[in-house]
Amino acid sequence: MDVALLQQSFAEVVPQQEAFAEAFYQRLFTLYPQTIPLFATTNMKRQQSSLMATLELVVAGVVRGDDVVPSIEQLGRRHAMYGVKAEHYPMVGQALLETFEQFLRDKWTAQVEATWTEAYAMITDYMKRAGERHIIAINTPEENRRV
Ligand code: HEM
Repeated sequence: MDVALLQQSFAEVVPQQEAFAEAFYQRLFTLYPQTIPLFATTNMKRQQSSLMATLELVVAGVVRGDDVVPSIEQLGRRHAMYGVKAEHYPMVGQALLETFEQFLRDKWTAQVEATWTEAYAMITDYMKRAGERHIIAINTPEENRRV
């Protein structure tokens, strides 16, 4: 994966991160209104900076060669507790990539798109699997028989 490309394209949106995050949530809620209730009690101003800050941390961690997997798995377990399910991940992925395209314009090349698609798939794969394991671990045997 071309991490330098991730970093460069991310740096482009950092100066506009508030507008970026706002555009992202607007796009997500328009495309997939079923995600709105998940954020019912969320302070959206704080949430907007968390999403971007986390993406930045993950990218920086990968660049340094840190093992970012345990913290991504933790994030996945917390998301399972927010009610986020595997099917929601592609929805956020689409909204995120389309927002990148909107902000990067001619800098959104096929290569940049491919790299972000790969990075998002990798991150969310760990999140989804850790989230599913967590739900199974905290469910009663009876609840697990129903899923
Ligand atoms: C790469 C993928 C994602 C990243 C990096 C990310 C990042 C974050 C971060 C940093 C928080 C703050 C709370 C915490 O750290 O636990 C958060 C909360 C949350 N995220 Fe995500 N997220 C991702 C995917 C998703 C998806 C797919 C959904 C589903 C629609 C989602 C819905 C939520 C909700 C509902 C909260 C809780 C807000 C609250 O505190 O009320 N996230 N996310």
